[in-house]
Amino acid sequence: FHDKIQPIIFGENSMSEPVLVAVAWPYANAEIHVGNLVGSYLPADIYARYQRLKGNRVLMVSGTDSHGTPITVRAEAENRTPLDIYQSFHAGFLELFQKLGLTYDLFTSTHTENHFKVSQAMFSALLKNGFMYKESQLQWYSPKQARFLPDRYVEGTCYICGYTNARSDQCDKCGNLLDPTKLIDPRTRIDGSTPELRETEHFFLDLSKLQPDIEAFLKERASYWRPNVLRQSLGQIQSEGLRGRPITRDLEWGIPVPVEGWEGKCLYVWFEAVIGYLSAAIEWSQLQGQPDAWRDWWKDQRSKVLYFIGKDNIPFHAIIWPAELLGAGKAFDEVFGCSDQADFVLPYDVPANEFLNLEGQKISGSRNWAVWGLDFLTRYDPDPLRYYLTTIMPEAHDSDWDWNEFYHHNNDELVATWGNLANRVLSFAYKHWEGVVPDPGQLEKEDQDLLEQVEKGFDTVGRELEAVHLRAALGEAMRLASEVNKYLDQTAPWFTIKSDKARAGRAIFTAMKAIDSLKILFAPFIPFSSEKLHTYLGHAGQLFGEQYTQEVEDTLGSHTALFYNPEKAGGKWQPSSLQAGSRFNAPSPLFKKLDEKIVNEERLRLGQ
Ligand code: MF3
Ligand code: ZN
Repeated sequence: FHDKIQPIIFGENSMSEPVLVAVAWPYANAEIHVGNLVGSYLPADIYARYQRLKGNRVLMVSGTDSHGTPITVRAEAENRTPLDIYQSFHAGFLELFQKLGLTYDLFTSTHTENHFKVSQAMFSALLKNGFMYKESQLQWYSPKQARFLPDRYVEGTCYICGYTNARSDQCDKCGNLLDPTKLIDPRTRIDGSTPELRETEHFFLDLSKLQPDIEAFLKERASYWRPNVLRQSLGQIQSEGLRGRPITRDLEWGIPVPVEGWEGKCLYVWFEAVIGYLSAAIEWSQLQGQPDAWRDWWKDQRSKVLYFIGKDNIPFHAIIWPAELLGAGKAFDEVFGCSDQADFVLPYDVPANEFLNLEGQKISGSRNWAVWGLDFLTRYDPDPLRYYLTTIMPEAHDSDWDWNEFYHHNNDELVATWGNLANRVLSFAYKHWEGVVPDPGQLEKEDQDLLEQVEKGFDTVGRELEAVHLRAALGEAMRLASEVNKYLDQTAPWFTIKSDKARAGRAIFTAMKAIDSLKILFAPFIPFSSEKLHTYLGHAGQLFGEQYTQEVEDTLGSHTALFYNPEKAGGKWQPSSLQAGSRFNAPSPLFKKLDEKIVNEERLRLGQ
């Protein structure tokens, strides 16, 4: 089996590599807040946009995680159907992702015929390869409701850390996956009654058989993975070892187990949700009219697959999903009816983020201690949100959203350092050179030094982006913007124009070139303003493509999906090509200065 794990070698400058940006699938039982955005959706988009500017073949996929007991719990509480719950949250996700510019090539759902088929094929392939066994298991049963209870319906005290509100399958405090039967002081979530343990038969994924391969896979990536991700995955293997995990449930809402006699049981939501990364790629390919296209990302070992998730999802992406991929292998192609058979591409990286707190407290939807994505965008623009979230991205430690900091980052950096720079230079140039880029004559050392520094940014910012150090990447881009400000303080074209217009023109030309380059360095982070600036600078076309939604017919009921059309995307990760003599347009300010009073207004909204 070890020969399956191939070393990952990517050519330094080889053109156009397949990059699969796999983004966590939001549960269809809650709205999305800034903690969710900063954890996975936003970093994924920044990375995807960067890779597209580099000219790589990006496929960014995700969808609504529509099964899971969180959805049935909510449906039961609100006396609605799970389908209704899933569809209404799904619609909200599509609206938010478009408004915030999260450019999914496909954002679909797990409640599609295609996803059912792909998940069942994965199951059958694992069964065929001998990585599945049947076992009777003790399961929490509610005598009061006369039915088996999903693990999530049962809460109690964590036997590892003592946290009193742990779900029976996972503890939110210590992050460990739990053996549900070991929960202390169990209580039923719906009615608070005490459940009892009863026998029921389930399929188990034989993780112990796959352990050596998973361990080898993790060790090969140990040099560059985030320490917390390694600790949580390799640590678990080396301390406790892997044991079989049940991957079916006594449930109605979900994907039927594709085995005769198993009617009434479903695939466990975590088993099938991760398969969404594969099924979404397949759905996308079919909708493109190129049904085999997905294989470039999933079966070609040159492909780079990155999973953008929050730290609570680490075991599922670093252990269980790789185990499914290793265990199913070529048999998937056979079961699914593909003409070629090849191994799956294993994760290249799982750059999981830590948690974001809000004004010093844990984010809590139920207490409304949250900043909700859609609500935020009724009062502010998307770029300030994307900018601030990147500056506090919890890449190594938990971090904190603070409204006073949001206000200052917006006014002191986005507006003062970057927005004013662009606006001041372009307005001045527009007025004095009538919308034509000035001819600089011979550039001097100070001009060349600045342009060289900014040009180096494509390496330095690019290297940080490549490593998914997004905070550092953005910090470096903003530092370069400050350098342009310093250059303008020194060359002072606003004064020299009175005595020496040629000299002022040289400085303005240089600054315009620098701004034109910075526009690209900033583009993955704050694409809306970069796109505007691109137009102000007189370039035809746009940097990125377009998002659109479309209804997709399905035997399970049609679903609306979000797409990205890259056709008009012309942006390149390259320094400015602006020429003296070319025409440009009158600019407008890129960002709005905020009033200090928003800090208190926003704080008063919290917890209300
Ligand atoms: N719905 C899960 C969450 O929001 C994430 C699932 S990622 C998936 O935590 F790949 F498993 F779908
Ligand atoms: Zn715990």
